[in-house]
Amino acid sequence: MSVTITPSILSADFTRLGEEIGRIGNADWVHVDIMDGHFVPNLSFGPAIVEAARGVTDKPFDVHLMIEEPETWVERYAKAGADTIIFHVEAAADPHALVARIRELGARAAFSVKPKTPIEDYLDLAREADQVLVMSVEPGFGGQAFMPEQLSKVETLDRLRRAEGLDLTIEIDGGISADTIGQAAAAGVDSFVAGSAVYGAPDPNAAIDELRRLAEAARAR
Ligand code: DX5
Ligand code: ZN
Repeated sequence: MSVTITPSILSADFTRLGEEIGRIGNADWVHVDIMDGHFVPNLSFGPAIVEAARGVTDKPFDVHLMIEEPETWVERYAKAGADTIIFHVEAAADPHALVARIRELGARAAFSVKPKTPIEDYLDLAREADQVLVMSVEPGFGGQAFMPEQLSKVETLDRLRRAEGLDLTIEIDGGISADTIGQAAAAGVDSFVAGSAVYGAPDPNAAIDELRRLAEAARAR
């Protein structure tokens, strides 16, 4: 899989979200962080905002549900226009059933693990999913420092998919910048979520291009 750059609109200026999505034309996907104030100690937006944003871009939406009871909500997010729906295993009652349900709804099925959650407990789930999101910060806020030790999870997943020929996308989220993207790419990441590194830059598209260049260079090595 080629390098996928996935800016997070959590770091965008919400007073003009439509224009902000227009400023990331060089991105591959758009990452949408849904926070409920319970699973994580912060609130962001809900399905109405996803639906509104859906009207301003054709780019795939990578919807990251940092919410309790994700099974109650996946249908709403699928209808709002999510292309990939990512739930947290720590919040799901039956992760295997939820992967199947997301597929039934016509979306790509993904799950995420928080930094303290071991990936070894979810290798069977990875065999069924389209994508795994490895959190490289505690979920809840943009702008936190990258946790390099989380890359061992990426390496485990990369070994698994190579050994078994799985069509699995590995994504990382949290603290990705020009300083950290190379190590993540070398470990096996395909999709790089970046919030502050893209929207904090004077020219978001130039930041996206630079992140892509660094990821491709690290992979080629
Ligand atoms: C954190 C979110 C991230 C966040 C990343 O809980 O899941 O997607 O937007 O922001 P940066 O790239 O600034 O760490
Ligand atoms: Zn996220």
